Amino acid sequence: MALDEASEVSEAQIAVHWREEELYYPPAKFIGQANASDPAIFQRFSEEHFPECFKEYADLLTWDRYWHTTLDTSNPPFWKWFVGGRLNASYNCVDRHLARDPNKAALLWVPEPEQEPTVAVTYQELYRRVNELAALLQGFAGVKTGDRVTFHLPMVPELPVAMLACARLGVIHSQVFGGFSGAACGGRIADSQSTILVTMDGYYRNGELVDHKVKADEAVARAAEEGMTVDKVLVFRRHPGEYASKSPMVAGRDFFVDEVIGDYRDALVEPVSMPAEAPLFIMYSSGTTGRPKGCQHSTGGYLAYVTGTSKYYQDIHPEDTYWCAADIGWITGHSYIVYGPLSLGTTTVLYEGVPTYPDAGRAWRIAERLGVNIFHTAPTTIRMLRKLGPDEPKKYNYHFKHMTTVGEPIEPEVWRWYYEVVGKGEAAIVDTWWQTENGGFLGSTLPALQPMKPGSCGPGVLGIYPVIYDEDGNEVAAGSGKAGNICIRNPWPGIFQTIWGDPERFIDTYYRKYCKDPDSKDWHDWPYFANDGAMQAADGYFRILGRVDDVINVAGHRLGTKELESAAVLAEGVAEAAAVPVVDELRGRAVEMYVSLRPGFVASDEIKRGVSDVIASEIGKVAIPKNVWIVADMPKTRSGKIMRRVIAGISNFTDVGDTSTLANPEVVDDIREHVQSEKRARGEVPKALSAKDKEEIGQFGQAE
Ligand code: WTA
Repeated sequence: MALDEASEVSEAQIAVHWREEELYYPPAKFIGQANASDPAIFQRFSEEHFPECFKEYADLLTWDRYWHTTLDTSNPPFWKWFVGGRLNASYNCVDRHLARDPNKAALLWVPEPEQEPTVAVTYQELYRRVNELAALLQGFAGVKTGDRVTFHLPMVPELPVAMLACARLGVIHSQVFGGFSGAACGGRIADSQSTILVTMDGYYRNGELVDHKVKADEAVARAAEEGMTVDKVLVFRRHPGEYASKSPMVAGRDFFVDEVIGDYRDALVEPVSMPAEAPLFIMYSSGTTGRPKGCQHSTGGYLAYVTGTSKYYQDIHPEDTYWCAADIGWITGHSYIVYGPLSLGTTTVLYEGVPTYPDAGRAWRIAERLGVNIFHTAPTTIRMLRKLGPDEPKKYNYHFKHMTTVGEPIEPEVWRWYYEVVGKGEAAIVDTWWQTENGGFLGSTLPALQPMKPGSCGPGVLGIYPVIYDEDGNEVAAGSGKAGNICIRNPWPGIFQTIWGDPERFIDTYYRKYCKDPDSKDWHDWPYFANDGAMQAADGYFRILGRVDDVINVAGHRLGTKELESAAVLAEGVAEAAAVPVVDELRGRAVEMYVSLRPGFVASDEIKRGVSDVIASEIGKVAIPKNVWIVADMPKTRSGKIMRRVIAGISNFTDVGDTSTLANPEVVDDIREHVQSEKRARGEVPKALSAKDKEEIGQFGQAE
């Protein structure tokens, strides 16, 4: 669908209305110690050196056999990197660091209860634990190279241990975010065809010991409904010897790891030498249609890319103490808590719980006590920390040399608080734009060499050449400040290999739209469509506008509208459902759900609760709608499509736009009256929205 004149004008106007932010230069102290401080690096990664420039990243790894072909483009867009090479990711993240300093902490695990001591897992200890668990997986669970194992684990050291144990065997892991429901986990077990589920009895969150094992029973049941039998459920215990769950252990299926592992005491498992293109893991990501996409990441390309970007963009040195406060259940945690930092042999911090528990100073106490000098988090956490304790960081004696923000656009005002108050004006900040599909960063400043600009991620990172296209595939002039769809012109080693089990959808979603010639074997004809809107300022820095598809980004969690709606219609009495985003001060976006009822049902709080409950159980608590509105009828186009932008406009008190194409325009006023009067009564009228938010709401759900 071509953009009409009017929307083109308004996009350009929005770009013009954005204030140009002033630049911030990295502190001299940071530049003096940075891994990348010589501008010659830009030359090394310039397009004329592509793809060989990525040898610099691959050479950070230890290969069992060196590759013969850097990039194989013979089957576009299924790129192969470092072909002919062999390596093991577990060896690279563990074994090879033993010689230097086996007693250095690889992981520092901070339990949420503050009286529980921090646990240091040294590289030697990590080596022992990874080997024992690999032996158990191989012996007791019977998994083989190429099999899939699903984890549904919280933020505990057992999670990186399990990832590395699988990697040691060449087994493909698929970690499902611990906060997701059992049903969501079960669907992903079935999709990846895992016969083994690894979980935990419970974990601490917000002061409460959460019963987690109960979700394993739901997951196994859901997987069975979808035709997949789980043979064994391996249950770690939060406190070995005690059981934190009310859910009974199923004889012959469920086993406590701490009981079985005794048989593998001090076992050693030879790391399996894997081809560079062998899959390392699957990470599911929500998309426009109901089914989540299993993003399949490679061993050699992925590990090279996260190691290289961790070194240059996170500025990780082995002697740093690095804390990324994301969850390992997301791609950020895989790449920048586990694989990147451990491959570089540094100390990586894992925190079990909520950064503001028991109070707004917790994160800064952790930083002070552990001597954290690199800090990495998301705008949603920054907003929350700022709201609850704007002056807390000043009370603690920590010093960050470097900080990261990732996952959503950050408002310049919030960025400045991060810089001045959290970073005490001493830290270089990188705003890193990328996606589950990408393996590692796509857009960011190189911290010692490029100034920071609040609200902009920066230019494409080393070896990444972005371009903005309009809907028709014309290039939007570089640096014009006009919005369009951001694409990456070239392949890179961290790009996912395919959608697990669905290569057609992989091509359709990311390559079909801007492919110049489907028969071409030249990568220049296959730009990667990121599905994000963006604009590029005259200085080459990109500002990311968010998804062009129907995804609601709640606190950095991507929730597909279709997924939410499919869940909502499972509730008693619900006929139709539409999910829309509302601007939320803390979480960026929250979900609001509009439902219409089946005949014979009348609106009630019970029905609304039913909708929230089913969303919590199908997707997870993070997706629970802020409000559920029961309406007589949804605004629809003549072809029967729900016009989400109209109800999104109502929920956000913004202009609903043109309603003349509706089949039933008369419903709009009724819905507005009902929703907005109730919101007024509850004090939920938002402050004036920014131009960018207005644009997103105004266009929500327009993409086909
Ligand atoms: C958004 C997270 C603005 C974007 C690593 C992308 C961002 C989606 C940024 C991917 C950023 C991520 N600035 N927007 N720095 N980083 N996004 O897959 O819309 O969880 O497409 O990966 O988050 O989210 P995902």
